[in-house]
Amino acid sequence: MLTHAEIAALHFASYNVPGALYAAPGRVNLIGEHTDYSDGFVLPAAIDFATVVAISPRTDGRILIHSVNYEERIDKSVHELLDDGFASLRAGRKVHWSDYPAGVLWSLREHGVPVDNGFSMTIAGNVPLEAGLSSSASVEVATALAVLGTTSLDLPPTKIALLCQRAENAFVGANCGIMDQFVSCCGQQDHAVMIDCRWLEYQLAPIPPTVRIVICNSMVRHTVAGGEYNTRRAEIEQGADILRKHRPEIMALRDATVADLAKWGSEMPANVLKRCRHVITENTRVLAAADAFRSSNLTHFGDLMRQAHISLRDDFEASCKEIDILVDLANKQPGCFGARLTGGGFGGCTVNLVAAANVEAFTEAMRAGYGEATGITAEIYTSRASGGAHAITL
Ligand code: GLA
Repeated sequence: MLTHAEIAALHFASYNVPGALYAAPGRVNLIGEHTDYSDGFVLPAAIDFATVVAISPRTDGRILIHSVNYEERIDKSVHELLDDGFASLRAGRKVHWSDYPAGVLWSLREHGVPVDNGFSMTIAGNVPLEAGLSSSASVEVATALAVLGTTSLDLPPTKIALLCQRAENAFVGANCGIMDQFVSCCGQQDHAVMIDCRWLEYQLAPIPPTVRIVICNSMVRHTVAGGEYNTRRAEIEQGADILRKHRPEIMALRDATVADLAKWGSEMPANVLKRCRHVITENTRVLAAADAFRSSNLTHFGDLMRQAHISLRDDFEASCKEIDILVDLANKQPGCFGARLTGGGFGGCTVNLVAAANVEAFTEAMRAGYGEATGITAEIYTSRASGGAHAITL
């Protein structure tokens, strides 16, 4: 990863003007998977991996973006990038990395933020790509902060998160919830963030200093733009529609209970019933987990993670063989309180809560065990919970 000074120097070398720098972190979700788009609860933390955007305003109506990670540059008019880009995505074009920053410009423009004069941008980051650690949200939020920084507008973090989510939903075409963009904006060092995704309110849950968050990357690629995520969302909505016929006050699965499922679940196709059971039980687990953190009850927190993984694996069917191997291995390691698949699923990473003193041995055992079982070399990261998106002063 380039240093901030190196990104600034690269920006200057490309465009011959200094750029202002902004950073936004990726995230790891400790518990609360696939609950955000049913108005539910999630408990993610921002991580020490981030995307940095350098920006300078232009006057010629062009958008120039240099992606350091993809080693590619684009140079388009605002109209080509935003309007033609939007139309071609709707017509079925494959998503390109530049669609994420373009989507944010599109969404900000829709909100009345001036973008027509154009920008020069440099984007670099170290959030692992397609690993379920929200590299996309970090690009979106860093871009939004960068563009807003060229104006006198000061939008609240929640609004920035919503505009970035809109970019991903309406422009890129991935139906994600609000969790990733929200925690990228509102993360707090050494804290998990318990987000109420209906009211967009949050409470901080301190991560006890005796544990570390260890992330194991299965190296099996995960992408929200893939079809499975949108299929799951549709199944959840189908289930909520069925329950709403009986209890009209059920706006989203957040309002439903296991008792509702016991009464009316038989009207649902078997897969829809399972998906709903995951979401409803997961919301209860998130609330219990935030309490467990507050009272430093790591054993209970770990139990909830274990239950959450089983539910995500068997009811939501969002796991895969490699992830299950990582979780089973982790559960056998000394000092590991809990392990589960994190993020959208179908590959990506596991999140593990490990006693600080055991992290080294844990990391070695996981790398060796996973390599032996699958022939794949896992990447393993230890991260503190980090702060949210911010301007960088050099
Ligand atoms: C992805 C989405 C989030 C959330 C998770 C699953 O990360 O972007 O909104 O739905 O999957 O919990």
